[in-house]
Amino acid sequence: MKKLKNWDNKTWLSSKSYISQFNKFLKTKINLNKNSKILDIGCGRANIISILQKKFKFRNKPIGIDIVANKNVKKNIVFTKIEALKYLKKQKKYDLILIKQTIHFFSRAKLNQLLNLAKKSLNPKGKILIFSLKTKNNKIPCFKKMRKNLEKSLKRDEDLFKIIKKNLKEVSYTNFNFKVNISKQKYIRMIRERYISCLLNMSNKEINYGISEIKSKYKNQIKFTDTLKCISYRK
Ligand SMILES: C[S@@+](CC[C@H](N)C(=O)[O-])C[C@H]1O[C@@H](n2cnc3c(N)ncnc32)[C@H](O)[C@@H]1O
Repeated sequence: MKKLKNWDNKTWLSSKSYISQFNKFLKTKINLNKNSKILDIGCGRANIISILQKKFKFRNKPIGIDIVANKNVKKNIVFTKIEALKYLKKQKKYDLILIKQTIHFFSRAKLNQLLNLAKKSLNPKGKILIFSLKTKNNKIPCFKKMRKNLEKSLKRDEDLFKIIKKNLKEVSYTNFNFKVNISKQKYIRMIRERYISCLLNMSNKEINYGISEIKSKYKNQIKFTDTLKCISYRK
């Protein structure tokens, strides 16, 4: 798969309100304090752990890892450009391992390896929080080919959820909902920049055709709810 670079590049996923609501949601899942050690796997520009660091001033700065070193990765965290399995083999320990919208990049076998290593990398009472797009009735605005690719990927995610359940056993499920209100113009820019992995392998022609579909299908302001399933595991 081609590399994803514009996921959180000035999109609702990097907006102040998204990050603040997401971190409020995290607070309902885990009690963090100055001594908490955090690892964010597939951190992108590290927006989430950066705000956590501002708030908690952790003794050990949160660690963010990603296979892509994006421009504008936040500076107040420790970023390493490295593949997740390779990093986890270092066997350091964390209180929170965050894996947000990243599992779909893994094969079934690699996901099992990731989970096994993540479990071994938890402090007592440590938590793994996995976030992934909800698979049923997903509201992300799409053009036809994009919807087809997305549905295929969400079907595969359902398989990955089964693997997670089998591997982690005692897990709990909740949803994180964010109400998106974005101008059509901005959303078209996001599509052009291939912000989501179901657009990565499309040709420019397919993207342009899709954009004309979005132009005629949606009003000037696009509103929908972005819902993530949260899978929570506690050691
Ligand atoms: C959809 S983005 C999510 C970024 C961030 N977690 C967020 O929610 O805003 C997925 C990220 O996972 C990274 N990624 C994919 N496979 C990876 C791997 N094997 N190891 C580390 N990072 C990976 C991608 O480069 C990408 O930045």
